[in-house]
Amino acid sequence: MNTLRQPILNELDRYQQLFRQTLTHEDDFLGQALSHVASRQGKMMRPVLLLLVAKEFGPVSDVSVRAAVTLELLHTASLVHDDVVDNSAERRGQPAEHTLFGNKVAILVGDYMLSSALHQAALTGDMRIVDIIARLGGTLAEGEVRQLADIRQAVATEAAYFNIIRHKTAALFEACGRLGAISAGAPEPMVQTAALLGETIGTCFQIRDDIFDYFEDDAQRIGKPTASDMRDGKVTLPALYAASVDTTGEAAKLAAFVLQRSASDADVMRLVELTKQHGGIDYARDTMETYRRRARRLLDDFSNSEVRSALAAYVDFTIDRDR
Ligand code: IPE
Ligand code: IPE
Ligand code: MG
Ligand code: MG
Repeated sequence: MNTLRQPILNELDRYQQLFRQTLTHEDDFLGQALSHVASRQGKMMRPVLLLLVAKEFGPVSDVSVRAAVTLELLHTASLVHDDVVDNSAERRGQPAEHTLFGNKVAILVGDYMLSSALHQAALTGDMRIVDIIARLGGTLAEGEVRQLADIRQAVATEAAYFNIIRHKTAALFEACGRLGAISAGAPEPMVQTAALLGETIGTCFQIRDDIFDYFEDDAQRIGKPTASDMRDGKVTLPALYAASVDTTGEAAKLAAFVLQRSASDADVMRLVELTKQHGGIDYARDTMETYRRRARRLLDDFSNSEVRSALAAYVDFTIDRDR
């Protein structure tokens, strides 16, 4: 984590000052509700990616720093809403916003933060940035809605899974790459490369997140509940694979129960067991390796060696991380 932040320590300080400012409010209640969100920092994956990409093209401007703030605001707002949607009680090792303040406040606080993200985008004065942020909020919601719709289907497919994670997660990382390059005045081919790098990393990031869910005892370290996806009707890549290779049909039958929300706790535990037996976790890890190679090839186009090594460490962290 420290290696990959090394080239942008000063930029991250500038980022943090501005980010904290956006999460304060003079109104007592809104102020409190926002300060709960601000009180525990996440890993800052998105700002770090954006700032590293921007650094490739020279000294990091205030526009890049502000773009990083807009993306982390959008991300954090989506987490506040996501925990309501997923009925998930903890986030970043503490009670989720809705656990402390209730769903009504959590929805409104998320809305407030989304609006702040747009405001910060407008303050960059760059219409391309405003356009990207405005549409991104829609893309994230589309991914989350697709996932809900998917839950109602009897069969989930790998294609549908990748479609969902592209929208709900990879699009944000793609925007980090794209905005890092655009805000630094990068030439168009590099904007495309940086966007593709972000998308590749983001896809891995969600696959890794989904793998966490198959290991119950990791919850403390990860800071959010595990083994909750299936209880919530979600069948992710490892179990999808197991369902496709288990010739007895048991895994596929259990996956259908999960999707239809009729799976018992014992069904979920059995599907987790079958997933491991049939190599579902290994399959998801192999898939991430394919993405790791793709990301590394894209890094060849970066010429600042300090930035390139930090981005390589970033890719590795995304895949090998334990939180
Ligand atoms: C969580 O993202 C949401 C996913 C896309 C899986 P992070 O794991 O980056 O969350 P924080 O910001 O570090 O808490
Ligand atoms: C993360 O969704 C993506 C968004 C918040 C848009 P998940 O529901 O998979 O993420 P976690 O596991 O709650 O962080
Ligand atoms: Mg969710
Ligand atoms: Mg969730």
